[in-house]
Amino acid sequence: MSGGTALVIDGLEVEFGRFRAVDNLSLAIDYGEVRALIGPNGAGKSTVLNVVAGVTPAKAGRIVLDDTDLIGLSEAQIARKGVRRKFQKPSVFEVLTVRENIELGLGVPVAKAPSGRIDEVLAMVNLTELADRPAGTLAHGQKQWLEIGMVLASDPKILMLDEPVAGLTDEERQRTAALIRALRRPDRAIVVVEHDMGFVEEIADKVTVLHEGRTLFEGPMSRVREDARVIEVYLGR
Ligand SMILES: Nc1ncnc2c1ncn2[C@@H]1O[C@H](COP(=O)(O)OP(=O)(O)O)[C@@H](O)[C@H]1O
Ligand SMILES: [Mg+2]
Repeated sequence: MSGGTALVIDGLEVEFGRFRAVDNLSLAIDYGEVRALIGPNGAGKSTVLNVVAGVTPAKAGRIVLDDTDLIGLSEAQIARKGVRRKFQKPSVFEVLTVRENIELGLGVPVAKAPSGRIDEVLAMVNLTELADRPAGTLAHGQKQWLEIGMVLASDPKILMLDEPVAGLTDEERQRTAALIRALRRPDRAIVVVEHDMGFVEEIADKVTVLHEGRTLFEGPMSRVREDARVIEVYLGR
């Protein structure tokens, strides 16, 4: 299960009432890849992640992980197949400790997880020292890392991060970029929604630009900045 295609989104349509948020979207993400999903506000980026995670229903289309169509599976079933997503809005459990939050991310009782996994994740996200603090006492940047730790705990095949550097300082952004690069593996695909182009440039192998629920551009970062349509609807503002 390494190399090759991880996730295929094929002819995806999502509607909220009469509004079509995702319109016949197709894209494929490979194992080993970090894919950035960018585009203006309202383009449908978060919605795509929500549909993959089984939170938002699709009207039409297929989402295939390995050989399994995820459409119609519950959020819990999809999570068990190794798909994890960090929400755009912070969603740590403030009264629980940092360690307890990461334990919740495992998706199985701690006793059933590989021994030492929680400590390993704490170290990866740089929160070892703060493990016993209530999550509510963390600074904003530390909360963002804790959320990455929560989705990382179960060792997912598909890791989706919605705006992981929103509100972070330059230094925190650098550290988050280094963390995401370190999470790249031949048996994992990482999808990151972000607005910060400098950050995207550092982490992404490939970029998909969404606009009005459709793909406007897909390719290497070096070509995104030169694409006339991307400049017009997104970068040029
Ligand atoms: N639950 C919902 N109900 C109604 N409209 C929604 C809902 N979620 C998203 N939308 C609309 O769908 C469009 C895409 O939203 P979203 O995926 O959040 O965009 P992005 O993450 O690219 O900024 C927006 O116009 C948004 O207002
Ligand atoms: Mg969004």
